[in-house]
Amino acid sequence: MPVYINGKPVIDTDGNIMHCHGAGILEHEGWYYLFGEDRRGRSRVSCYRSRDLVNWEFRNICLTLDSATKRHYVRTDLRLAPMNSGPMTPEEAAAVGLQPIGHRGANIERPKVLYCEATGKFVMWMHFENGRDYNAARCAVAVCDTVDGDYVYMGSFNPVGNMSRDCTLYKDEDGTAYFISSARDNADMIVYRLSEDYLTVAEQVKTLWPGQFREAPVVIKEKGRYYMLTSQCTGWNPNQGGVASADAIEGRWSAIRPFGNETTFNTQPTAAVKVGDTWLYIGDRWDPSNYLNSTIVMLPIKFDGGSCSIDWADEVNIDGGKITASAREISDVRVMLPGCVEYLGSDGYSVFTRKLGYADPALIWQREERDGSLLLRHKESGKYLSCEGILDNCRDGESRFLWEELRGEKGSLLVSRFSGKSLLVHGRRVILTDAEDRHFEGYTFVKNY
Ligand code: DGJ
Repeated sequence: MPVYINGKPVIDTDGNIMHCHGAGILEHEGWYYLFGEDRRGRSRVSCYRSRDLVNWEFRNICLTLDSATKRHYVRTDLRLAPMNSGPMTPEEAAAVGLQPIGHRGANIERPKVLYCEATGKFVMWMHFENGRDYNAARCAVAVCDTVDGDYVYMGSFNPVGNMSRDCTLYKDEDGTAYFISSARDNADMIVYRLSEDYLTVAEQVKTLWPGQFREAPVVIKEKGRYYMLTSQCTGWNPNQGGVASADAIEGRWSAIRPFGNETTFNTQPTAAVKVGDTWLYIGDRWDPSNYLNSTIVMLPIKFDGGSCSIDWADEVNIDGGKITASAREISDVRVMLPGCVEYLGSDGYSVFTRKLGYADPALIWQREERDGSLLLRHKESGKYLSCEGILDNCRDGESRFLWEELRGEKGSLLVSRFSGKSLLVHGRRVILTDAEDRHFEGYTFVKNY
């Protein structure tokens, strides 16, 4: 039975790690085609295919910095890379929040592909940045005669003059296609109806949730209702996902309700696919410490009264269209800090903030309850967080290791049972401060999904 394991890299049928992130999925002639980011060298968009979503065959790098270009009938910018561009420096990569992986040139994110019946062509839309920062905020289009061939790049542009970052495509049952992307520095989500050939925008039809700063849109239609999954904007860190619904794409959308848990189980939406009667959510588990360790998570979606949800599953069994999922008990946690930007780690003595990295054992903690108090054990060193804000060996009953967890709306506050002071992050270090000095949102304990 094909089993998809969440949180692990996918090994393709050639034995290589699959690099296909921010992906879109297209069903074509009995195959699922996955198009996604491959940032290595001069590659930009990779394509894999599968019959069961578990065994993936590498097909092509469909877009590279050296792809053929063709003028569009609207004015676009055809540049993909400066002449003879070489590898990015660590500084250049850091400017876009990444490690140096590829060559200097266009930063292509979230590619999505649709088949256009009217022209018989496959059309790719994507997010384009110049590779130096995120200020271009453009979409770009590429086109191909075959699903997994070499796409011809038709250039980048600002749709209807708008900024355009995280994006998706949606094709309705009547063939009408929509491009949806974050605009106005991510404050708004804009829906565009595409021209009949899918190559450009016909009309800006909707501005959704103005001022709510949403990213990572994915559209699903189930039983005549449209659902849009989105995330908040926290760079490469996961956050609480959201879902809204409407009975027409161009109609009135509901408010955004929570989707998944406070980190969407450490993922950000990128696509969804229906297998048999079940929709599968596809999310990126970005690894901010090492982008190449990012993995893909698939979780079955449950629909209920105009909304939908997901639960965590370690394994998803995909058996001839019937999907079952299973999850183990998880006791390890990471401590996510206010603002969702960093996590609490330790070198076995001091406690300090670190960038999220799923392979980093220094970030794993265990919560223990003792006589109504909380103890925080650093898993790698086996030591406990003391009221001095360091790690130490803990003898039974010592009150300097006992904490009270005060749960607030935006996380927990840890107050020492010994000193009454609360734990606060100051720069990269933790300090203990009088409770009344606190001015932060609190800690969130996230299971090690
Ligand atoms: C979040 C977006 O969803 C990703 O596609 C990427 O643009 C990162 N931000 C960059 O920080």
